[in-house]
Amino acid sequence: MIKICARWALPFALPIALLTGAVQAQEANEALLARNLAATCASCHGTAGLAKGEMKSLAGRKEEDLLKLLADYRSGAQPATLMHQVSKGYTEDQLRLIVRHFAALPAKP
Ligand code: HEC
Repeated sequence: MIKICARWALPFALPIALLTGAVQAQEANEALLARNLAATCASCHGTAGLAKGEMKSLAGRKEEDLLKLLADYRSGAQPATLMHQVSKGYTEDQLRLIVRHFAALPAKP
């Protein structure tokens, strides 16, 4: 009985295991990319999205809210001193990765 199971299970289990590994590797790459992209915001919005002084923090905020703010800067709907330029320096996919990264960070140190 065990022999039959192993013979049947292996051809199915192996591709699934390989596929799961590939998906996990891709997720890890995306997380790393997101962190690197988000690091470019740190000079103004603080390390790990926690800003000092009057600057707005990005950590722990809703993805949709951050994306909307960035979209409004890009379109010019929201006037800005510099975020209209900063937000145009990334593709929409990159901005999505960035806000997902910040949304997942704790809002307080
Ligand atoms: C050189 C400084 C600087 C950098 C770098 C920078 N920002 Fe900003 N950010 C600002 C300033 C200043 C504002 C206020 C709007 C303005 O005057 O441009 C702002 C506002 C924002 C806001 C709106 C916050 C709110 O609650 O109103 C978001 C969202 C934002 N930035 C996201 C980002 C992201 C994401 C990055 C990195 C890709 C980034 N910023 C990089 C300076 C910066």
